[in-house]
Amino acid sequence: MCGIFGIVTDRETALGPTLVEAGRRLSYRGYDSVGCATLRPDGTIDLRKDVGRIDEVAERLGFREMRGTRGIVQLRWATFGAPSQLNAQPHLDSDGDLVGAHNGNVVNNVELRAQFLAEGMTVRSTNDGETCVHAVERYVDRGYPMLEAIRHAYRDLQGDYAFVIGRVGEERLYAFKKGSGLVAGIADGAAVVSSDLPSILPLTRRVLRVEDGEIVVLEPGRVELRRVEDGSLVFREVETVTESMEEAQKGGYPHFMLKEIHEQPERARELLHLYDASPHVEAMVARMRAARNLYLVGCGTSYHACLLGAVYLARLAGRPAIPVLGPQFIPQCVPAVGPGDVGLFVSQSGETKDVLLALEAGVARGLEPLGLLNVIGSTLMYKSRVYLPLACGYEISVPATKTFLNQALAFLYLALRMGGHPTAFLQGLPDLLAETLRSAEPWVEGLVADLAGRDDLYCLGYGLTYPIALEGALKMKEVTYAHCEGMLSTEFKHGPLSAVHDGYPVLFVCGPEDVPRIVSGVNEVTCRGGRAIAIGEEDDRLRANVHDLLPLPRAGPLLNPLLAVVPLQLLAYKLSVARGIDPDFPRNLSKTLTVD
Ligand code: M6R
Repeated sequence: MCGIFGIVTDRETALGPTLVEAGRRLSYRGYDSVGCATLRPDGTIDLRKDVGRIDEVAERLGFREMRGTRGIVQLRWATFGAPSQLNAQPHLDSDGDLVGAHNGNVVNNVELRAQFLAEGMTVRSTNDGETCVHAVERYVDRGYPMLEAIRHAYRDLQGDYAFVIGRVGEERLYAFKKGSGLVAGIADGAAVVSSDLPSILPLTRRVLRVEDGEIVVLEPGRVELRRVEDGSLVFREVETVTESMEEAQKGGYPHFMLKEIHEQPERARELLHLYDASPHVEAMVARMRAARNLYLVGCGTSYHACLLGAVYLARLAGRPAIPVLGPQFIPQCVPAVGPGDVGLFVSQSGETKDVLLALEAGVARGLEPLGLLNVIGSTLMYKSRVYLPLACGYEISVPATKTFLNQALAFLYLALRMGGHPTAFLQGLPDLLAETLRSAEPWVEGLVADLAGRDDLYCLGYGLTYPIALEGALKMKEVTYAHCEGMLSTEFKHGPLSAVHDGYPVLFVCGPEDVPRIVSGVNEVTCRGGRAIAIGEEDDRLRANVHDLLPLPRAGPLLNPLLAVVPLQLLAYKLSVARGIDPDFPRNLSKTLTVD
């Protein structure tokens, strides 16, 4: 949660524009408050921070004018301490000699704050990032040099976090991490550190990935890694990153979400190309096939992909799999987990703490961890015995779209391979997706005027489309702030049907094999005055019973769910914009949830 970026340069310079640009790239991680600090050669610290999004706060507080030899920017997604100017980061120590910012959670911050106050320090906020600054201050005040002070502080701070700190009168910045991701980069006359790669790549492609228990010492043009344990040097090869940064631009679209929805045909094509050639697919299939129990674990959208994956695996490979939400895996499955069990952990970011904790708990009982992830170099990648990438490039928008599509496609591919079925027919999917996008746009546009004012909606599906209904509903509530519940269509009559009254909208996602069942559900709604809207292949029975039908291209039951999700994504997007919301950064959310 939250994002940090720090830079050290060899001369005093206008650091503001660099900090703002890095902050904008990090803002998918948190956007309820933002702050910049620069350290100047005259021994002063310029600290500016407030509640709000980076562009607005940067303009109001003049971030771009900030100068110095060292700088830090932090984007906050509040966990400890409400969003406020005081809780915004970076934070100063008691005397204003140290300045630092963190991402993640320091879970013993309340106890530490009490200790710091008792020791006579000045604590200004209720934010755990400030705790990290005082944790270092405590040892600096006892006369330790910075590196030693940090080694001691590291032992006092509990939780998963990454932290960057600078001290007046020095030429360095220091950073360290426990649990969260942290990357350092080396540039000409400069060094940088960040929670993620995209904020670093415009400045350098020479990077070092930091591991738990390491302290990064940044000097102009130089990065040093030292072990917390004994302060000794770590030798690690500098990596040269070749990834393109074009992904991280909107490319003419008004929002990343719309761009990412439209990228889906191409992303699907790339995934198929990759999997057709990858030896890791067979390695994954072999492990899943041999599993005593097979668990599919994820959160949010990734969990919906697991639900769909379980249906594909049962249907195509006769392989039972247990889809489970990350945090529920621990009480529900871990007590019964043992050697021979396999967990496939699914995560766009590869950093979701709820998923990583589940993985660790399973591994401790002998489970073999596999990964399906988008971010190469993520914690999940390193913790997986075998992993498959989602090949989606950067997904910037908080709502997951293209990564869901490729998660679902990856499951379909694995299930086909496991069941010994040909995968060649999947090559038709990219064109079918493009066709769906074309036909869905005007249809969705036609619904927006009617639905934009609604604060209540249901989205129902059955069998292979049940996970799609859940995913459509999640997208809808995430970016429109309206209540939209996804449900198995047959469950609707067991209670929620009572909500239906004149004009009440219910969306049905219909697979070609499920028309009779969906038509029953539709009639239960329409005969009570409700409005039935359906997404499915053209079918007289369906068309005769619903108020609106979006006909999907004929693709058969296996590909139908992958097409059906597209109009739901587009509907969520257009409703969001119609309601005056920025779909890329919905309130209260963050793209990467590295906290409990
Ligand atoms: O990075 P992950 O796939 O592990 O993230 C899991 C969820 O937080 C994520 O899918 C979330 O539900 C999406 N923002 C929904 O669009």
